[in-house]
Amino acid sequence: MCGIIGYTGPLDSKKILLEGLSQLEYRGYDSAGIALCMENSRIQLVRHTGKVSNLKKGCEEISQVSHCGLGHTRWATHGGVTTENTHPHKAGRVILVHNGIIENYHQLTTDFHLEGKLLSETDSEVAAWVLESLYDGNPAEAISKLVSHLKGSYSFCMMFEDHPGEIYAIRNVSPLVAAYTHSGSFVASDLTALIPYTRQYFVVPEDHILRLTSYKVHLYDLDLKEQEPEILEVNWNMDAAMKNGFPHFMLKEIHEQPDALKNTILPRLAKGLPDFTDDQIPDYVFKDCNQVQIVACGTAMHAGMAARALMEPLLRIPVTVSIASEFRYEDPLVDDKTLVIIISQSGETIDTLAALRLAKSYGSRTLSVVNVKGSTIARESDYVLYTHAGPEIAVASTKAYSVQLAALYMVCCRMALVREKYSVAEAEDFMKKLLDSIPAMEAMIEKRDMVKALVTHLINKPDAFFIGRGLDYAFSLEGALKLKEISYIHAEAYAAGELKHGTIALITQEVPVIAIATQENVFLKTISNIREVKARGAFVILLTKEGMNVEPGIADIQISIPDIGDRFTVFPIAVVLQLIAYYASVGKNLDVDQPRNLAKSVTVE
Ligand code: F6R
Repeated sequence: MCGIIGYTGPLDSKKILLEGLSQLEYRGYDSAGIALCMENSRIQLVRHTGKVSNLKKGCEEISQVSHCGLGHTRWATHGGVTTENTHPHKAGRVILVHNGIIENYHQLTTDFHLEGKLLSETDSEVAAWVLESLYDGNPAEAISKLVSHLKGSYSFCMMFEDHPGEIYAIRNVSPLVAAYTHSGSFVASDLTALIPYTRQYFVVPEDHILRLTSYKVHLYDLDLKEQEPEILEVNWNMDAAMKNGFPHFMLKEIHEQPDALKNTILPRLAKGLPDFTDDQIPDYVFKDCNQVQIVACGTAMHAGMAARALMEPLLRIPVTVSIASEFRYEDPLVDDKTLVIIISQSGETIDTLAALRLAKSYGSRTLSVVNVKGSTIARESDYVLYTHAGPEIAVASTKAYSVQLAALYMVCCRMALVREKYSVAEAEDFMKKLLDSIPAMEAMIEKRDMVKALVTHLINKPDAFFIGRGLDYAFSLEGALKLKEISYIHAEAYAAGELKHGTIALITQEVPVIAIATQENVFLKTISNIREVKARGAFVILLTKEGMNVEPGIADIQISIPDIGDRFTVFPIAVVLQLIAYYASVGKNLDVDQPRNLAKSVTVE
């Protein structure tokens, strides 16, 4: 949430900041701004509501070249979408951009007598003025003092009028990466902004002060002792962050799923069995536990729901899935015999991070399934299983979901093996089927036109239902979320058998029902539930497996996925559900990649 970039060096900073903000825009797109350090230390601020394209237009008349500046793209938290609330904020000699939330900003306003000074409604401007109050010419000292006053999460990038050409940064929870290159020094919320300039970067450690000059990047602890950053290498290239001919990132990312699955599964296959030796996850992690607790948010949580439906009956131990924002305020029943699995694409979701920290405080072993290398959740977990989806730019998660599932399926298989629920032959068979899901996904991507055609039955409707039983219900949850977030059609996922206990009152001719029936054990039961909605006039789109016999008249449209075994149907079904949402959004002429009110990487509570 919110994208930050800072640059100092020989190049034209305006150009770099604007390009970087375009790359970071998926993190927030309510408004955007830049601050440029000009000749004689003059600061030029340009801020616009709306997308980065508005800011770009607003910057066209700047002819003077600047070599140092800050940029920000905002997802509004405190205060509406106005120019005044747009970052950067200038407070006396301090120029600041912020990602996160300062919880005690009210108290700070009083303590530092800021009434009358503030031009915006933001917590960020309060932080800028507190820093200005503490500043006596030494930026690092003032920043070190500032953080002792703050409660909340933040990544700040700052300039000081009397230190031209220098950028300072600090973070707590909210992400920041930095790099020094021959083209200058960079800091940004994530790698997508740095990748055109370097493949080497480092994650700014929490509570460390970063000082960028055009020659070097310095890192200090809060006692201002210089520290050596831990340099990492980017494992994807710029192509991964470009649309490459696709009209939207979402469609590109849907197409990337088969490769992403291969990248996640194949390096962890040894003699046909899942092997986590290179991930440094010993088998006792899987053996020495008597329950599994999965914690995540949104789509990642839905991946957890599908994994639970697979794990519990196979492992015969309790497997619970919790929403991170709920879990963190409960007194959860986890202990040192609980394996807590944390799922997060970004590795920065604040509620998920808090849940991880809580689980650790209860003595649980923590294993995270994370896509972004070096992210906070990955660093703080006892064990990490990286998914290799590459950067996910569309706000609606697609490929991250499939690779999370693939990683969780492998964990499940390894657990079954080491807990003697599976023989070697059974585990090999499981992995073979998991690999079969890759061509099954490809087959459904090939059938995209069929899905495109069916959305005409959805796009003029205000509501839709997704129904299914067992694993199919877990898939329905994700299907409904995808449709809601990018097509703005109100969609509800319901356990098919539960509908008649009240909610069926909502089913009319105006409410399309997407019924998922891929599980043999409940197939006939789901078909009965479909009959019930059909009898109320619903238009039924049925997603099922090839070879499943459905009488004529049960569904208005039927899409069949390849039969790769009931437990693996999630992979091709996910493609169909993602395409339904995608084409519905396109059909309604909406902003597919950046839907309203949303942002990628939720770093506020
Ligand atoms: C929906 C979506 C979100 C994320 C959720 C968790 O398409 O992308 O629901 O899944 O915000 O994000 P991560 O996985 O980064 O923790």
